[in-house]
Amino acid sequence: MDNSKLVSHFKNTFQCEPDCVVHAPGRVNLIGEHTDYNEGFVFPAAINFGTWIAASKRSDNNVVVRALDYDYQVNAFSLNDIQFDENQGWANYIRGVIKVLLADFPQIGGANLVVTGNVPQGAGLSSSASFEIAILKAFATLYALSLDGIKASMLGQKAENEFVGCSCGIMDQLISAMGHAGHAMLLDCQSLFVKYAPLPDSHQIVIINSNVKRGLVDSEYNLRRQQCEQGAAIMGVSSLRGASLDMLEEKKAEMSDVVYRRCLHVLTENIRTLAASEALSKGDIAAVSRAMAESHVSMRDDFEITVKPIDYLVDIIGDVLGEKGGVRMTGGGFGGCVVALVPSDTVDVVKQIVDEKYQPATGYSADIYVCTATQGAFEKC
Ligand code: GLA
Repeated sequence: MDNSKLVSHFKNTFQCEPDCVVHAPGRVNLIGEHTDYNEGFVFPAAINFGTWIAASKRSDNNVVVRALDYDYQVNAFSLNDIQFDENQGWANYIRGVIKVLLADFPQIGGANLVVTGNVPQGAGLSSSASFEIAILKAFATLYALSLDGIKASMLGQKAENEFVGCSCGIMDQLISAMGHAGHAMLLDCQSLFVKYAPLPDSHQIVIINSNVKRGLVDSEYNLRRQQCEQGAAIMGVSSLRGASLDMLEEKKAEMSDVVYRRCLHVLTENIRTLAASEALSKGDIAAVSRAMAESHVSMRDDFEITVKPIDYLVDIIGDVLGEKGGVRMTGGGFGGCVVALVPSDTVDVVKQIVDEKYQPATGYSADIYVCTATQGAFEKC
């Protein structure tokens, strides 16, 4: 993105040049949904949509931030007293992140910031994680903090869990901080070991935004997490990572059908995620295709996080792709986006089918983004 607009807003707001401009991307998850907080496997890529922040140090303890995408609103607070802001919801991401950052790096001072971004909000592409990681990158750059990608992701997740109130896992922050251009990233959410997998030149990542507004996201999300924890407790393990399909069958009678199906999704999704990342590295697109299709069915029937328009998109795109590509819902669920791995010469056909069929069948109109996998957070000074 051309940052000249961001920098000129910074100069107009603060009457000086920024010390740096930082960027952190959003993400798309190819497979491995609701596995991260169960210490399982995920396979996301950072995308060419993200958050940009122009930043400079202040000599006092205040943080002043202008959000270009929220009507140029300004939010200001002191590092000495960081409270939840009931009026400007967007500001709680920065407030939460700075609060957790201060606990580990009490030496930081204030900052002037101007923020803008182009990750569609509420679409399951991690606009909030990209914002959190960009803030951490800005403070790490301004105050020369030794904050690596793993540490930054843990702080971002903590802010979201403790300050914003969503019990999310670590996937979104970690890929935003540590993505590699042209690669997806297999992440073991127990050890935080990462393995990068090159994406095939023959295929494009296509994201289709259903534009179904995601309702009750946080409460349903937190409920899914509790159900998984309940299942783990019944099986006597500290997380579902420690459970197997045999253990689940053995304890089936002791749990409700809902808890059983939540666990079944997570355990089978881990298997599919490992299989899909392995298949992708061997160029076995048919196996990736099957894993993505099964993942969608599992999210629809067992984890119950898809909605009808999303299922419809997956059906019509799946019909076009067959086993030459893959398609499934991506992200937390209850609306949001579908991700498809599409042969380059079929992208236009997919666009055409969605344009022709989606709106008449569902009443919603879709947005389609052909994405590239990009590098994680970086600064330019
Ligand atoms: C949201 C959360 C992630 C992850 C996904 C589902 O994006 O922030 O931690 O749980 O949902 O896979």
